Amino acid sequence: MPGDGTGQDVMEAARIVLDAIGFDAEYVAADIGWEFWCTEGDPLPPRTIEVLKSTDCALFGAITSKPTEEAARELDPSLQDKGLVYFSPIVQLRQLLDLHTNLRPCKAYPGNPLNFRDDIDLVVFRENTEGMYGGVEFYPLPKKVFEALCEHPRMARFGEKGLENIALSTRIMSRQGCESIVRRAFEYAARHRRRSVTLVEKPNVLRETGGLMTRVAREVAADFPEIPLWETNIDAMCMWLVRKPQEYDVLVAENMFGDIISDLAAGLVGGLGFASAANIGDDYAVFEPTHGSAPKYAGQYKVNPIAMLLTVKLMFDWLGEEELARRLEDAIGAVIRDRRVGTYDVGMSNTSLEVAQEVAREVTGRSQRTGVTK
Ligand code: IPM
Ligand code: MG
Repeated sequence: MPGDGTGQDVMEAARIVLDAIGFDAEYVAADIGWEFWCTEGDPLPPRTIEVLKSTDCALFGAITSKPTEEAARELDPSLQDKGLVYFSPIVQLRQLLDLHTNLRPCKAYPGNPLNFRDDIDLVVFRENTEGMYGGVEFYPLPKKVFEALCEHPRMARFGEKGLENIALSTRIMSRQGCESIVRRAFEYAARHRRRSVTLVEKPNVLRETGGLMTRVAREVAADFPEIPLWETNIDAMCMWLVRKPQEYDVLVAENMFGDIISDLAAGLVGGLGFASAANIGDDYAVFEPTHGSAPKYAGQYKVNPIAMLLTVKLMFDWLGEEELARRLEDAIGAVIRDRRVGTYDVGMSNTSLEVAQEVAREVTGRSQRTGVTK
């Protein structure tokens, strides 16, 4: 699923490397993205779900998403005024396929000139289906919903503003969702001999949702006595990630906080051009670079394909293709270290495809680099 914008550019780059490394797969294309919103009123057509069901996993490029009114304006005239509302297709995919775990490694590869420090190696576990992404939102606030919310004494004062002036987005979190993401973070930490797991929340203000997550995290942590659980508020975490990122290891958070810290963590290791992600469910997964579609660069092959190539590495990990994963990461690491090619974000002027070709050469041992024995 290349998606749209630069999603197509990085997918082409991925294919170069997938072919070079000799990955034995049949590729099936599926429609997703802005184009299908504009022409069909659905950026994630049902046929795409059917196609995905016939595959082992999916690789996704990027899609454009725009706020409600802007999105509605770009609909085909025949679809306007039908009450269609844009809902991000990647967020839909995560929920429809119950891809509960969003894994986002942020590692400083040696030689990357954009590293904030060279000793950063963070892994974010982001709950991927609940919280503020649940899509349970209202504007204006329906009377019935208002009345139900008035069971809570703090609600009354909002009524005074007039329900037509009230917007409501909810943060719904389940014990199961909290337990699942925290357990996966700890299991990962145990498997990879990580030093700590940090829960990123805000239970002093979000008493019920943050409180539930914190209690559940402590329960799960008790099953992993050798790995300390640190608890940090989201605001403080943002500060500490800038001040002492090297002291953190595995981070775990609900959906929105995980979204925020994963971009922050990516910024410490070169930005979104280096940030990979995996949306993992019980038996299916969708792999996607963290970056968006940057429509203004579409088709220019300007964007850094490394995020996408590291995403392919995550796909190999998940498929149990350990050897391919290791070879690919080594090749990416060598290309970053070597600095013979690079895209504009690292101050160079190669295209996305040239960077991919260099990784492909490296992976097949055909690199022209000197002074390296293979
Ligand atoms: C991400 C992105 C998405 C998100 C957007 C594109 C809906 O920011 O994958 O982090 O908010 O989850
Ligand atoms: Mg994000």
